[in-house]
Amino acid sequence: MSKRFLEILKGKKTDRPAFWFMRQAGRYLPEYMEKRKEAGSFLDLCYNPEFAIEVTHQPLRRNKMDAAILFSDILVIPHALGQDLAFQVGKGPVLTPIDSLSKLNALSIDHLHECLSPIYNTVKGLSSTLGQETALIGFAGAPWTVATYMVQGHGSPDQAAARSWAYNDPSVFQKLIDLLVEATSSYLIRQVDHGAEALQLFDSWSGSLPEKEFERWCIHPTAKIIQNIRAIYPDIPIIGFPKGAGAKYPNFIKETGVTAVSIDTSMPLEWARDHIQSLVPIQGSLDPLLLAAGGDALEKEALRILDIFKDGGHIFNLGHGIVPQTPPEHVEQLSKIIRDYRY
Ligand code: CP3
Repeated sequence: MSKRFLEILKGKKTDRPAFWFMRQAGRYLPEYMEKRKEAGSFLDLCYNPEFAIEVTHQPLRRNKMDAAILFSDILVIPHALGQDLAFQVGKGPVLTPIDSLSKLNALSIDHLHECLSPIYNTVKGLSSTLGQETALIGFAGAPWTVATYMVQGHGSPDQAAARSWAYNDPSVFQKLIDLLVEATSSYLIRQVDHGAEALQLFDSWSGSLPEKEFERWCIHPTAKIIQNIRAIYPDIPIIGFPKGAGAKYPNFIKETGVTAVSIDTSMPLEWARDHIQSLVPIQGSLDPLLLAAGGDALEKEALRILDIFKDGGHIFNLGHGIVPQTPPEHVEQLSKIIRDYRY
């Protein structure tokens, strides 16, 4: 039995698009909330393979998607490099900011794999339990996005701390990015060693970078990571998600060598078909808030997306993660629309 999701990434034609949803495991599911409570905290959940495997399976039991993403977070990399990290309910991630060369020098890659070993065990457990039809996606944050959290110490609407540091002292900021390239490459290679069948790199904040900075802090590090992974695994599919990059997507695709890209909700669909899907398979891009709203409007927009992308490689997804207020029935409604669609 071949996996539809992987066939599409290989450029093959399938009976219908594949689909999965970012944050398909998460707070909109009561069974997730129960498991998180049992684990103690979100981070405890990420580092407990038995629980992380369970929450990855939860959405699939309701509703079989064509792929499942490893349950973890992009910020386990800074944590494994020695930065303090906590997730505060209602506030998101909180880290002790890396805002000087001495704090940067205090980080160390020496214990990376030891710290991340529970995650490798999650990947291994998922690889043997997902079954014949569901592909396993491993992931990491791209260096720029991870750096924005490391430098600011929390999420921010404009990523001002990292952007300023990158302007004020690019050579020191480059050291941070280089460390992240090295750690992320070897982290992702280990995920493939343990059974990940495809990888996704999340660059959620690449939209805040002007053209030249996008080239330096998004494209170059991503290209380097892909080169490092492909030196070991030449055929592993890698999906890039330079969220908010707009017209910079075609260059990103050509210069990084990604297998496919995820697009965000703001992208005009016909432009994306003509300038992106003509280069690589496309993943996206329904508005998560429309999924939360549901009803006829959801059905109409889902069919519009399916029709626009029907002549090329398409993995149906959202433009960003499922939001916590989403009724699980809406996820079922959308899954059925995609599952019933035929080329
Ligand atoms: O199904 C999946 O997608 C699960 C795996 C996953 C999570 N985070 C779980 C999570 C993935 C792929 C991520 C990626 C991630 N994490 C990104 C990139 C994608 C994006 O959202 O832009 C980023 C920027 C992070 C960092 C992060 N993690 C933030 C800013 C937050 C707080 C905001 C929020 O949504 O609460 C998190 C927490 C987080 N990561 C949750 C989950 C399920 C919610 C935690 C909880 O249960 O309280």
